[in-house]
Amino acid sequence: MSLKLLAFSGSSRKDSVNGKLLAAAVRGVRASGAEVAGITQLDLRALALPIYDGDLEDSAGLPAGCLALKEALREHDALLVASPEYNGFFSPLLKNAIDWASRPQEGVPSPFNGKVAALLAASPGALGGIRGLPAIRLLLSNLGVLVVPGQMSLPNALGAFDDAGQLVNAPQREMLGRVIDELLATSAGNRAPSTAPRSVSR
Ligand SMILES: Cc1cc2nc3c(=O)[nH]c(=O)nc-3n(C[C@H](O)[C@H](O)[C@H](O)COP(=O)(O)O)c2cc1C
Repeated sequence: MSLKLLAFSGSSRKDSVNGKLLAAAVRGVRASGAEVAGITQLDLRALALPIYDGDLEDSAGLPAGCLALKEALREHDALLVASPEYNGFFSPLLKNAIDWASRPQEGVPSPFNGKVAALLAASPGALGGIRGLPAIRLLLSNLGVLVVPGQMSLPNALGAFDDAGQLVNAPQREMLGRVIDELLATSAGNRAPSTAPRSVSR
């Protein structure tokens, strides 16, 4: 069974270090040799989502960008999610997108059900954005996403990439590789039909 991967970042900024880390991860997935049916890199800003507002939802329904995000989530098995850390938390662009995508649609299952995700963060600072990751993990877990234990936060990110967008530092490249491998392996296990015997009641 081959994988469909959706990658998105909590920063759509032109020179975003999180965008660079996400792009490096996507290249790593392509280079991994794993059977990949498709990789989609989604620009959250392009969804043009208003700040979540219950009155707006009641009066106008789910915005087009929300429906597009839900559809993208449904069409993919695995998620690669990167986010900057803003004051110790992940970005409002990411939070708002996930909040919209979590809104129910009658008769349609949650687009988060059964997904596997891996988390990334990058920062020009010394902590690499790591303080924002537990909250993303909690949020996605609450929505039914299996978030793999491995994650990567990249400190001092302004000098971390070469002109081709590759991580300069070998241990950091290896760390990213391990996160990718864990996402791919967990996702493959998640999609494989179960061979475990069903429990039999006595
Ligand atoms: C409102 C705000 C708060 C920030 N707070 C943090 C922080 O808590 N920790 C951190 O490492 N960087 C913080 N930064 C710096 C961001 O890490 C930096 O702007 C980074 O480049 C944003 O990610 P991006 O390059 O992917 O857009 C903050 C930036 C902004 C705008």
